[in-house]
Amino acid sequence: MSLAGRQVLLGVGGGIAAYKAAELVRELSKAGAEVRVVMTAAAQKFITPLTLQTLSHHPVGVDTFDLQQESTISHIDLADRSELFVVAPATADLVARLALGMANDLLTTVALACRAPLVLAPSMNVNMWQHPATQVHIQTLRGRGVRMIGPDAGDLACGWVGAGRMAEPSEIAAGCATVLGETQTVTQDWAGLSVLVTAGSTREAIDPVRFIGNRSTGKMGFAIAKAAAARGAKVVLISGPSELATPAGVERINIESAVEMRDAVMSRADVQSAIFKAAAVADHRPAQVALQKIKKQGAASSLELQANPDILAELGVRKFGRVRPVLVGFAAETTDVERHAREKLARKHCDLIVANDVSEAGSGFGTDTNRVMLVSEGGVDRLPLLSKDEVAHRLLDRVRSLVKSA
Ligand code: CTP
Repeated sequence: MSLAGRQVLLGVGGGIAAYKAAELVRELSKAGAEVRVVMTAAAQKFITPLTLQTLSHHPVGVDTFDLQQESTISHIDLADRSELFVVAPATADLVARLALGMANDLLTTVALACRAPLVLAPSMNVNMWQHPATQVHIQTLRGRGVRMIGPDAGDLACGWVGAGRMAEPSEIAAGCATVLGETQTVTQDWAGLSVLVTAGSTREAIDPVRFIGNRSTGKMGFAIAKAAAARGAKVVLISGPSELATPAGVERINIESAVEMRDAVMSRADVQSAIFKAAAVADHRPAQVALQKIKKQGAASSLELQANPDILAELGVRKFGRVRPVLVGFAAETTDVERHAREKLARKHCDLIVANDVSEAGSGFGTDTNRVMLVSEGGVDRLPLLSKDEVAHRLLDRVRSLVKSA
C-alpha cells in the first residue's frame, strides 16, 4: 500500500524521541503523503516547530487558541481532512490523555475530533511503560481500535535498558501505510450477494477432555469472510474453535465437530451465491465418545473411527432450491498439489479448488501468507506468494465473475 497523495497528520509529543519526528516527516513525505504536524507544548522543548514546518511545507499547529492559525486552518478542519493520525512519540502522559478522551491542548483536541484511524508510537522510560496505569490505558486504546507500533526494547535515553524506545521512523511509516491500506474504500462488487465461509479446524471428541484436531488456525477463511464483507456481501462464517476476532459485519456461527459444521452449513446453504469451504474438516471421528474421561489404566491401545460426512461432496450433489451457489473447495497438500486438486474438483463436483502446498515456506498453517493455485475445469491459475488478505481478494475477484454467469 502506498502513501501517495494520502493526508497524514503527525502529532508530536514531548519526549526525547521527538527529534526523530523530523525523520518521520521525511519518511512519510518521501512515500508520497501530505504531512501536517501538530505538537504539544512539551514537544517544542525538544524540537522546534520551524524544523517540522520546513520539512512538511505546512504551518505546524501548536496552540488551540492561536487566532492566526485558526484562521489558516481550524483544528476541526485539521481533524476532518486527515486520513490517518499518527502520534510519535506518544509519551506516557499523551497515552493517558488520549485514553481518557481529554482535550486540553491542540493535539488531544484534534485527536478527539478526528474520525481517521489513530496510530501511536509509544516512547518512554521502561518503568513508565510497564506501569499498570500505562498498560491499562494502552489496553483501553487498543480496545478502541488504536494501533500501536512499538515500543522497541533496547538502550533508552534515560540510561535504562528495556522496552520503551520509539520504533524507527521507517517502521512507523510502513505501519501507517498498512493501516491506510486496510481502511481504503474497496469496491462494493459483492453488494446484494450472500456468502457462506467455513473456517478453522474441527474437533472430534474422544471423551470429555480429549479430541482429534488439526493445525488449521482459520486465518484463510477469516480473511475471505472479512474481504467479502468489506466488498458488500452478507457473510455467514461457520467456524471451528479459533482465537481470531470475528471480522466486522460478519455473522459467526461457532461449531466444534464436522457433524455440527455439516448441519450449520446445510441449514444456510440454499440462499448463498457462493460457498467457500476453507475449513479443515476431520475425515473421521471416534466411533464412540466416552462419557467419562478415559483413564490410563485399562484404556484401549487403539481408537475405532468412523467416517465423517464430506460436506463439500454433499453440497456438490445437492439439489438447490434456486441457483446453485458457486462451490469453492480447498486442498492443503504436501505432494502432487495440482493432481490432487483436479481429483478433488471432479470428485466433489465443485467449481473451483484453491490448492496449496502446506510444506512450502510461507504457505503452511498459521502463516499470514499463502501461495495458492486456483484449479477449475478451464485450467490452473497460479498466484504468487501473497498475504492471506490479498489471496482472499484475488479469490473473490475470480468467484465474482462465476457468480455473474450463474
Ligand atoms: N471437506 C469437507 N468435508 C469433509 C472433508 C473435507 O467439506 N469431511 C472439504 C474441505 O473443507 C475442503 C475440501 O473438502 O474444502 C478438501 O478437503 P480435503 O481434506 O483436502 O479432502 P479429502 O476429501 O478429505 O481428501 P484427502 O484427505 O484424501 O486429501
